[in-house]
Amino acid sequence: MDSNVRPESMQRITTEALANAFIDEQVKAIKEQVGDKKVLLALSGGVDSSVVAALLIKAIGKQLVCVHVNHGLLRKGEPEQVIEVFRNQMDANLIYVDAVDRFLDRLAGVAEPEKKRKIIGDEFIRVFEEEAGKLEDIHFLAQGTIYPDILESKDGIKAHHNVGGMPEEFDFELVEPVKLLFKDEVRVVGKALGLPDNMVYRQPFPGPGLGVRCLGAITRERLECVRESDAILREEFAKNGLQGKVWQYFTAIPDIKSVGVKDGKRYEGYPVIIRAINTKDAMTATVENVPFELLEHITDRITHEVDGVNRVLFDLTPKPIGTIEWE
Ligand code: XMP
Repeated sequence: MDSNVRPESMQRITTEALANAFIDEQVKAIKEQVGDKKVLLALSGGVDSSVVAALLIKAIGKQLVCVHVNHGLLRKGEPEQVIEVFRNQMDANLIYVDAVDRFLDRLAGVAEPEKKRKIIGDEFIRVFEEEAGKLEDIHFLAQGTIYPDILESKDGIKAHHNVGGMPEEFDFELVEPVKLLFKDEVRVVGKALGLPDNMVYRQPFPGPGLGVRCLGAITRERLECVRESDAILREEFAKNGLQGKVWQYFTAIPDIKSVGVKDGKRYEGYPVIIRAINTKDAMTATVENVPFELLEHITDRITHEVDGVNRVLFDLTPKPIGTIEWE
């Protein structure tokens, strides 16, 4: 049987009991596959890699080595949460790599979106290879492949975007415990493994992260504006019942300034664009009808709390014609 084909008899994992049965089965399978050898995992903190990490920690504990690369393009609080959950709470073997300067230096002055993606992907692999090279006795590479990845690569839909896709010359045997699961099932399993809700129910986040939301050539100043405004947007959506209801929402910052006025003086600043969309498969998307009063409140917070920003815009464009991300 092709191990990349989900058997028709496989029940959809919708309950904690079904998740626990899956976890027991996978823990056994992982132990059998890995024995007493070591496994390496690139842990981004996204749903899929976090669930794979939690499953492997349960199965083999410290034989798992997680590498978390902070490329400087993560959302506010994400690297801290990875350290808190995996190192402090789950006692995992976690290597934290601060690669912020490396990424931002390589990206300096690069404005073309696909070039930015390529640099981020390449640099990620370089950093990961360097870390792997420092370790001894690694036999396995764990990956958070899920079933749609298999289906989409089969159909040639996506050579897609994922940072963290490892080069083929990596000579490790793969451990892919959630490769036959759909996203909703991965979330149910993550919840049963005790991962926090804001990790399990996280909205999709592109591999190149805030790099494709800091439009044009990335500067540290605008990157901070994206990170801070995104944090305010997420906080307000959570407070106002939109978290979990709206499929994806974020801010983006173009590389232009406009004239404004602050404390009676001319204040040139960047505009923040809010995008909030709903979709089933990310191929088409509609715009969420966000209450005007909430938009006014968010505008007020962003323009007062985020240095360098003097306007807030709301993107009314469906996909098509706009893509979900701006780059
Ligand atoms: P677009 O902008 O193509 O986005 O309408 C569709 C979905 O894919 C996400 N996206 C990415 N994900 N790497 C990723 O892992 C990328 O380079 C990338 N670009 C877009 C986007 O956030 C949306 O959910």
